Amino acid sequence: MTVFVWSSQFELKIKVIDEQHKVLVALINDLEKVIAKKKTAQYSSVFSNLIKYTRYHFITEEALMLASGFPLSDVNAHIKQHKQFIEELDSVCSDESYVSEGDLNVILSFLTNWLTNHICKVDRKLATHIHDENEIFSRWEEKQHAKESGRTQHQLAIEIDYKSLMGYFHEIIRHAEEDIKNVLFCEQQFSPDTHQQTIEKALKKISMVRKAIGRLSLSQ
Ligand SMILES: [Fe+2]
Repeated sequence: MTVFVWSSQFELKIKVIDEQHKVLVALINDLEKVIAKKKTAQYSSVFSNLIKYTRYHFITEEALMLASGFPLSDVNAHIKQHKQFIEELDSVCSDESYVSEGDLNVILSFLTNWLTNHICKVDRKLATHIHDENEIFSRWEEKQHAKESGRTQHQLAIEIDYKSLMGYFHEIIRHAEEDIKNVLFCEQQFSPDTHQQTIEKALKKISMVRKAIGRLSLSQ
């Protein structure tokens, strides 16, 4: 029996996140299968795969949150949920008493309910922000283009400088985001330290450039 059936209500239209959520659903279903077949020797490896993949998935989401300029209060609330979930999973994995079938079924329904609720409410909020951001940026570009007609030479020169500076800043952000994606999604294996350092460096760069963009926008 499949305990968790994927459906279109879980789709957030962000390919990498949707694909990772499908893997999480499949891992929960793997757990259901070993419990149903009472394959006790496999419990710990299935739990361990689930926890490893969940950690990896949360890093992806958190990098996306920071790179997309998700409001800091929302980032903190979202990361808090991830942290609590990892703590719950850790305690389940380290507790050898999960051999009772009743306990395992409680854990299964907890995992299923948590993921359903988290995707539909918390992750959806992030997805909406990312979709809106793309739209805001395209609208901003259109507006800038339209504004160019009817400007004096001087105003136009200032605007072009502003535009090229903004373009340059967005290019830096794009490169930093590429660095994050390369570490997260390329097939080459990085050591955990390199992984963490590259992500931290790229996120720091994104945050600094976003601050500069904010100051530049205010000066206009
Ligand atoms: Fe999340």
